[in-house]
Amino acid sequence: MSQQTSTAICAGSFDPPTHGHINIIERALKIFDKLVIAIAKNESKKPLFSFEERKDLLENILNHDKRIEIVVFEGLLVDYAEQRGITHLVRGIRTVGDYEYELQMSLANRMLNPKIETVFLMTEGHLSHISSSIIKQVVKLGGTGKDMIHPVVEDAMKKKFKN
Ligand code: PNS
Repeated sequence: MSQQTSTAICAGSFDPPTHGHINIIERALKIFDKLVIAIAKNESKKPLFSFEERKDLLENILNHDKRIEIVVFEGLLVDYAEQRGITHLVRGIRTVGDYEYELQMSLANRMLNPKIETVFLMTEGHLSHISSSIIKQVVKLGGTGKDMIHPVVEDAMKKKFKN
């Protein structure tokens, strides 16, 4: 009897990817066989890294894991999931503040496409203070990102801030 492969999408801005993202990705891979890391193209914020740079950083720090596909997508996440035949989205929740945003987003996604389910993982306590915006501030002002981001990401950030 053949077993079906389960796949989920882990979407986000990843500007830059942090230890928090990686922790959620690693744990999601214990639930799903494959993960599509989807970098959203239609964001309003002014990004530090281009989409291609973020894709390269993620590929690098995830060691080109065969179970992971990294893509850049445009438009609604549920439409992208439907096109790919993927029915599960994975999101991490760090704080109560995240919960409100994630609840709204998952309900909106559910209204848009009830076939797509969001699976939530609670970010581990020692990583719950990490956010891409905080890390940008820390590295820009000369602080260390040692416990928050991969050294490859820190180097890339330092180069950006130098220019
Ligand atoms: O890392 P982020 O910024 O919290 O990720 C948010 C993201 C990219 C998952 C969300 O903005 C998204 O899904 N964008 C794609 C457009 C979309 O589907 N918007 C409706 C979601 S309710």
